[in-house]
Amino acid sequence: MNGAINTAYNDKTDDKPNDYMLKSTISDSIFTLEIYIDRATLPTIQQMAMIAESMSKHPKLICWLRHPITDEKLLSQLNATSFASLESLYQSACSILRTKSKAQVIIFGNTYWSKDLSRLIRRVTQISGVMIKQLELIDDGASEYQKMYQWEILSAAEQSHDLCAGLNNLKSYLKGGENRVIRALSQRSNKLPRCISSIFNWHRLFPTTYHMLRMDYLEKPEISLLKVHLAGRTKQIRWDYLSNASFSAEQTSLFYQMVGLSDPRNMAKSATEDQRSKFMFIGVGSTIASSALQIRVIADSLSETGVIPQLKADRLQFKGHPFADFNQEIIQAHKMEEMRSTIPFETLIMTDNLPEKMGGMESSLYFSLPHNYQIEYIVFSGSKQDLIQNALIQIMLYLNVISQERIFFADQFN
Ligand code: C5P
Repeated sequence: MNGAINTAYNDKTDDKPNDYMLKSTISDSIFTLEIYIDRATLPTIQQMAMIAESMSKHPKLICWLRHPITDEKLLSQLNATSFASLESLYQSACSILRTKSKAQVIIFGNTYWSKDLSRLIRRVTQISGVMIKQLELIDDGASEYQKMYQWEILSAAEQSHDLCAGLNNLKSYLKGGENRVIRALSQRSNKLPRCISSIFNWHRLFPTTYHMLRMDYLEKPEISLLKVHLAGRTKQIRWDYLSNASFSAEQTSLFYQMVGLSDPRNMAKSATEDQRSKFMFIGVGSTIASSALQIRVIADSLSETGVIPQLKADRLQFKGHPFADFNQEIIQAHKMEEMRSTIPFETLIMTDNLPEKMGGMESSLYFSLPHNYQIEYIVFSGSKQDLIQNALIQIMLYLNVISQERIFFADQFN
């Protein structure tokens, strides 16, 4: 292994910038490669907004596994290449970087999937002259909060030890080569568990910003140590790129093209033209709930005598899960309007197209709603007895995403 990777690490545990960080601030004229990776939705939408915001001319390599961009004209406008797999992106990044005597890399990733990030960094930092200038990490969704919820039961000493051990493991993982046997022989880590100490230690090694869905969760006394650990490296995720009018017409158009809304005026028109109150039902795929259950829940919420207090809405709209294969069956059962299931829900938030009322089945998407938005109801799997043990519910209650009387369970609709 050459020396590049060693200079990238800060073995110190204080917060002073290391040599690598200082170098990264004075290297604006050298070749810069931007890399965008994600396997979920929220980080992809945020990365799209960040691309439109910066309008940078740097070459970009993109691998958005759920929402790939295939439009060649758009890609060329962005100076970007899109990849169908992370592995092909890694290979291409290395080929490009090997041709440069000096290069800096800015990576936009998904915080929860630190493994994808570490595989990429392990490879590019083995190339001489390559430096990681900045990591912009965006929450996967609710996953980071579920990990924090588990972590907060540790004592302060255990939490502190966990963060230190995790940092050492991350360094060891990054220093190991691709070959598992050689990694094992050189006693380099083979494992990077998906846990707090793997996902929140990047700033000890590289300049990093963690873009958090709900930064206010760090105010919880039980995780005050994590708040101190991350101090100054976190930012609240923004949803107002479009609504605060900071985007020019060109930036707005770029963003719409990236999210696949070819004519955004259509969406805006339907929202402004029909002022009757609208309820949007959030559907899920079969791993969470059957179509029959979802049909029963909707019927219940419309009935005067159901478990859910009766809904008052003139129009019913169904927003199916992008990967559910029975969305049409539910739409037909209640003759609902359809919001295209492939449109990521977060896009509705960004484009100011939220319905007046919404509710539905359990999903991480409720985390992204504006703080003052009132959800009518959410139906979770299982029964009332699960309320205390259900981490997602407890986090939602703590963050005031929903109040307890608006929470229902699948077994109430049998
Ligand atoms: O429900 P789940 O946690 O799997 O949601 C993951 C992502 O899928 C959300 O962040 C959202 O982008 C998308 N989704 C959606 N419409 C739904 C459910 C999920 O757009 N009805």
